Amino acid sequence: MGWRGILGFEYGIVQAPLGADISGPELVAAVANAGGLGFLRAPDWESPDYLKELIRKTRSLTKKPFGVGVVLAFPHEKNIQAILDEKVAVLQVYWGECSEELVLKAHQSGVKIVPQVGSLEEAKKAIHAGVDAIIVQGHEAGGHVIGQDALISLLPKVVDLVGDRDIPLIAAGGIVDARGYVAALALGAQGICLGTRFLATEESHAHPAYKRKVVEYDATEYTDVFGRARWPDAPHRVLHTPFFNDCKYIPADQNEAGQPVIGCAIIHDREIEIHRLAGVVPNATTTGDIESMVMYAGQSVGLIKEILPAGEVVKRLVEGAQLLIKNKFSDIL
Ligand SMILES: Cc1cc2nc3c(=O)[nH]c(=O)nc-3n(C[C@H](O)[C@H](O)[C@H](O)COP(=O)(O)O)c2cc1C
Repeated sequence: MGWRGILGFEYGIVQAPLGADISGPELVAAVANAGGLGFLRAPDWESPDYLKELIRKTRSLTKKPFGVGVVLAFPHEKNIQAILDEKVAVLQVYWGECSEELVLKAHQSGVKIVPQVGSLEEAKKAIHAGVDAIIVQGHEAGGHVIGQDALISLLPKVVDLVGDRDIPLIAAGGIVDARGYVAALALGAQGICLGTRFLATEESHAHPAYKRKVVEYDATEYTDVFGRARWPDAPHRVLHTPFFNDCKYIPADQNEAGQPVIGCAIIHDREIEIHRLAGVVPNATTTGDIESMVMYAGQSVGLIKEILPAGEVVKRLVEGAQLLIKNKFSDIL
C-alpha cells in the first residue's frame, strides 16, 4: 500500500533535483543507497560529456537506480540525449513542455519520465503525453514554484484526474518529516519529493552557511527578485534573510545584469561570477558575500532542526510514517 514500490524503488521517497549545482553524486548516491530515488541536476547549458561523467561518478557510489532532472526552460537537447544514452532510471523534467515526442524518446531508451507540475492543466497534458509518474508541486515548495495552489488542494484534484490510470503521484512542497509524508499519502500520493530537507544534509553540495541558515531560519517568501535576467517570469520561494528583506522591493525593471559582482563559484563545469540578485544559490565552492546570495527554501523550513546524513532523512521518514500510521490511525476504525 502506498509507500512502497513507486517505479520499483524501495520507498516512495524522492530527493528533488536541486539547482543550480546542489544535488551531486554524493547526495544522490546516499539517497539511492537508503532506498529512495535521488535526482542529479543537469546543467542549464548543453554539456553532455560532463553530464555523462556526473552519472558515471554517481554509479561508482551506488549500485541502485537514480535519475537526472532537467529544466526545459534552458538549452537541454544534448543533455537529454546523454541521459538517455546513459540509460539512467528516471528523467525528471520541469518548467517546459513534456511532449509526447519526449516521452516516446525516453521510453525507447528504457528511461522512465516524470514531469513536475504545478497545476491541473499541466497534469492533464502530462497524462496525455503518457508519462510514468507525476510530481505534483504545491505553492509551499522551495526553489522555483510553477503554480499557485497549495498541495492540499492541488494534489487531490490531480488524484481524481488520474483516476484508475497507473500513474503514481508524488507530492512536493513543504514536506520535511513523517507527518508530511503521511498527510501526502492521505491525500492520495504514492510518494513524496523533498528539496529543502535534502538540502540540509551532510552530502548535499550546498554551502555550509546556506545549510546552517536552513536550520536557523523559519520564514520564507514567494518572490521574483532573483535571476530575472537569466530566467524571466520564474517566481521562486526563498529564505527570509536580512539581505532578502533589504532587496525585496526592487523595481520591476531592475535585475542582476546591472548589479555588482559579489562572489564566484564553480557550477558544474563552469566557473561563474555571481552578481547581486543572481538566482544562483551558494554551493560548496562559492566564495564572496554568501549572506547576500539567494537561498531557496520551502515553507516548512522551520521544522528542520539539524543537518543529517541523507540516509538518516530517508530512514526517519519511513520509520516515522510507519509508527504514525500504527499508533495514531490504526485505532480509528
Ligand atoms: C535549492 C532548491 C533547488 C531546486 N532546484 C530545482 C530544480 O533544479 N529542478 C526542479 O525540478 N525543482 C527544483 N526545486 C524544487 C523541487 O523540485 C521541489 O518542488 C521542492 O523542493 C519541494 O518543496 P520543499 O523544498 O519544501 O521540499 C528546487 C528546490 C530547492 C529548495
